[in-house]
Amino acid sequence: MTTPQRRPAPQRPVRCAVIGYGPSHSFGRQHGRWLSASPDLDWVAVCDQDSARLDAAKNDFPHLQTFSDVNQLLASDAVDMVSIVTPHHTHAPLALAAIAAGKHVVVDKAMCLTVAEATAMIDAANAAGVMLAVFHTRRHDGNFRAIQETVASGAIGEVFHVELSGGGYHRPRDWWFSRKALSGGAFYYWGPHAIDWVLSLIPGRVQGVTGFYHKKLWPEVDIEDQTRALLRFENGAVADITWSHADASADLARKPLWRILGTHGAIVDTGAGAGSGLLTEIEGPVSGAIRTITIDGETRQTADVPYKTSDWATFYQDVADHLLRGKPVPVSGEAGRRTIAVFEAAERSSRTGQTEPVAFDSGGQ
Ligand SMILES: NC(=O)c1ccc[n+]([C@@H]2O[C@H](COP(=O)([O-])OP(=O)(O)OC[C@H]3O[C@@H](n4cnc5c(N)ncnc54)[C@H](O)[C@@H]3O)[C@@H](O)[C@H]2O)c1
Repeated sequence: MTTPQRRPAPQRPVRCAVIGYGPSHSFGRQHGRWLSASPDLDWVAVCDQDSARLDAAKNDFPHLQTFSDVNQLLASDAVDMVSIVTPHHTHAPLALAAIAAGKHVVVDKAMCLTVAEATAMIDAANAAGVMLAVFHTRRHDGNFRAIQETVASGAIGEVFHVELSGGGYHRPRDWWFSRKALSGGAFYYWGPHAIDWVLSLIPGRVQGVTGFYHKKLWPEVDIEDQTRALLRFENGAVADITWSHADASADLARKPLWRILGTHGAIVDTGAGAGSGLLTEIEGPVSGAIRTITIDGETRQTADVPYKTSDWATFYQDVADHLLRGKPVPVSGEAGRRTIAVFEAAERSSRTGQTEPVAFDSGGQ
C-alpha cells in the first residue's frame, strides 16, 4: 500500500469558496462570515445554481466572485478550499468533484446520506492529500460545552444513561428536507448534532444500535414522523435519542433536551436557552443554564451551571490551523462517518427488529 502524499500547505490566506447560498437558514452566508473571522482565511467566491441566490450574495458581498456552475468554480486556480452548504444528497458528489479538483473540503452536516458515500469521500481525500472536514460546529454550543465540562470534571460520576429529545407535533414543511431521497430522512436534520454530541460525550465504541422509525401521518411527505435510536456503548452506557414531528405531548409537557444520569448525580438541560434543540439562534445558544445534582453520601446538592459561550467561529480557525500549521482536522471524515453509520444502523434495526452493529466504529473522534 502506498502512503498518500499530502499536498503542500496552501499559501496564507487560504482562498475559500462557499457552495450553496441558501435562503432557509442563510447558512451559506453564515459560513462566509465565520470563515472571514479568521485572519488566515479569505472568502473569495460563492457558487449557487439559483441565480436569485447569486444575486443575493453579490448584493450582500460585492467583492465575491460568483459562479452558477460548480465545475467552473472548481476549475478556478483562485480557490484553495470549498465549504459545501447544499442539500444533503449533493454533499458526496460535490465533495468528490472538489477533491478531484484538488480543493480542500468542509462539508456541512449531515456529511452525506450513506456510509458508502462517506467512505468514498474519506478515501478520495486521502488519495488526493487534501483535507476533508465535517462542519459539526454544534460541538461548540454553549450548553453542550457546559455539559461536557461538568461530565469531564467527574462531578456526576460515571455517565451511564443519556436521553436527548427534540421536536414536537408539526407537519414537515414543503422543502427538500421533507423528501427522504434528498435529506436522508427525519433524523438527518437535528439528528447529526444529537448523535455527534453523544459520540463526543461517551468514550469508546458503540456496540450496537436499536432503532424505531414511525411513518403514519402526512402521506404527502415521505420522511418519517418520528425516529428513535438507542445506542449501547462498549462501556455499558446507553444513549436514547429521539426526534419527532408527531409528539403532541410536547404541548403538554416538553421533555428536557438533555437528561444525563451519572453514578453520583445528574444533569438536566431544558434547552430553553438552546432554542428547544432547534436552531433558532444562528450562532448557537446564547443564554441559559444547565441544572446539575451531585450526590455525596447523604448530601444532595443542586446547582445552575451557566452555559458557556457558543464559539462557532472556532471551527474555521481550527481548519486554518490544520491547513497552515499541521494541527488536527477539527472534525475528520472518519468522525463524520460515525454519525452516518449510527443512522444507517438505526434504520436497518427498525426494519429487522434486531440490534444492529455500527459500520467502521473505532470509537475515535
Ligand atoms: N450546522 C448547522 O447547524 C446547520 C444549520 C442549518 C443548515 N445546515 C446545513 O446546511 C446545508 C444547507 O441547508 P440550507 O438550510 O441552507 O438549505 P437551502 O435550501 O436554504 O440552501 C441550499 C442552497 O444550495 C443551492 N444548491 C443546491 N444544489 C447545488 C449545486 N449542485 N450547486 C450549487 N448550489 C446548489 C440551492 O440553490 C440553495 O440556494 C444542509 O446540509 C443543512 O443540513 C446546517
